[in-house]
Amino acid sequence: MQYIPFGKTRKEVSRLGFGTMRLPTANNEKGESVIKRDEAIKMIRHAIDHGVNYVDTAYGYHQGESEVVTGLALKDGYRERVMLTTKLPQWLVKEAPDMDRLLDEQLKKLDVDFLDFYLLHALDLAAFRRLKSLGYQEFLKRAQTDGRIRHTGFSFHDGKDAFIEIIDDYPWDMAQIQFNYLDDEAQATLEGLQYAGKRGVPVVVMEPLRGGALANPPPEVKHLIDGNKRGYSPVEWAFRYCGQYSEVATILSGMSSMEQVEDNLRVFEHTSPGNLDLQDQAFVKTLKDAYLKRLKVACTACGYCQPCPEGVRIPDIFEIYNEAYMLDRQESLEQRYGIVVKAEADASHCVACGQCEAICPQQLPIIGLIRDIHGEATTHAG
Ligand SMILES: NC(=O)c1ccc[n+]([C@@H]2O[C@H](COP(=O)([O-])OP(=O)(O)OC[C@H]3O[C@@H](n4cnc5c(N)ncnc54)[C@H](OP(=O)(O)O)[C@@H]3O)[C@@H](O)[C@H]2O)c1
Repeated sequence: MQYIPFGKTRKEVSRLGFGTMRLPTANNEKGESVIKRDEAIKMIRHAIDHGVNYVDTAYGYHQGESEVVTGLALKDGYRERVMLTTKLPQWLVKEAPDMDRLLDEQLKKLDVDFLDFYLLHALDLAAFRRLKSLGYQEFLKRAQTDGRIRHTGFSFHDGKDAFIEIIDDYPWDMAQIQFNYLDDEAQATLEGLQYAGKRGVPVVVMEPLRGGALANPPPEVKHLIDGNKRGYSPVEWAFRYCGQYSEVATILSGMSSMEQVEDNLRVFEHTSPGNLDLQDQAFVKTLKDAYLKRLKVACTACGYCQPCPEGVRIPDIFEIYNEAYMLDRQESLEQRYGIVVKAEADASHCVACGQCEAICPQQLPIIGLIRDIHGEATTHAG
């Protein structure tokens, strides 16, 4: 296992962190998906026995069961061997006292006295500003002073400018971002990652395999990987890509089987900063380009077409469509498009006024494109 200094903790953190959002599950007698507890506990402990010293959970993972199972896995002396992180479900915070109440509930569920890190979960700019108005800074300071948490941070899903605003607002001990070789220009971006590094804020990476998609590449990407002399697997390329950056502290993997734990432990023998030479870095870029070639619509998500007078979320529709083809997951199109339909922001509301086409910098024939996508994404719908 590779380790790296972890900011203000004065500790070294393992480069592989255990994310407990995708533990193995089975259906119970009521047909509900529940964690296979024995197997999950074995996997977490096996990872710790082989050098992992960072475990990430959250209030909402596995419908609230992840914190409980993580707490059980950390019994029998395992708690002392790891840095433990959970997150404030900010969407449940309606008024300031909710923050203390939720933290206390989480400590109980995990059955621990303190957390090494407590993160504000899934911040975008709007959520962040709301928490700021409710006094998140005072809350975090209070929780540190009374010993319930040791370090602070936030996890993030928005764009680079929002990331910088949040980073600059508080002396964070870490930031958790979605980062992988497809997303170096999305979300916080590589630039945001490096900005955090310059501010002395270590970054924890989530979704290094794009939620598993990079482990199962489409044929042309797989062909490139099979032909590379290094002989790395798709997973190894993706982890090595994240690992090459010294700003990255630990890389979370949401492992869902013991085989994945074993495989990742093996890969993380080789993920120190600088582990990819220039040729390797160029190769990863060719992988990214091969994915991008699968994009169907040249939308850059600039947002000029928004707001649509009829509320059609045009960039979201294109993103869902592009992702389905880029990741070779066409079967997910209907389900993800359904979210836009539910929000009454789908293409059926288009009245062909043409306002969007007149302003689109890419000159996309938006009206026809979204009509066709709607047809494809709702083929099987009632
Ligand atoms: N704070 C937030 O907003 C937030 C959001 C997302 C994630 N997270 C945290 O970050 C963690 C990591 O994100 P993630 O779970 O999305 O990570 P990820 O590594 O991008 O995806 C995990 C998935 O990758 C696949 N996988 C992992 N190792 C593999 C291997 N060796 N071979 C083949 N497939 C492999 C598995 O997919 P299959 O099960 O399909 O095989 C697994 O479920 C989460 O578990 C969670 O703790 C936080």
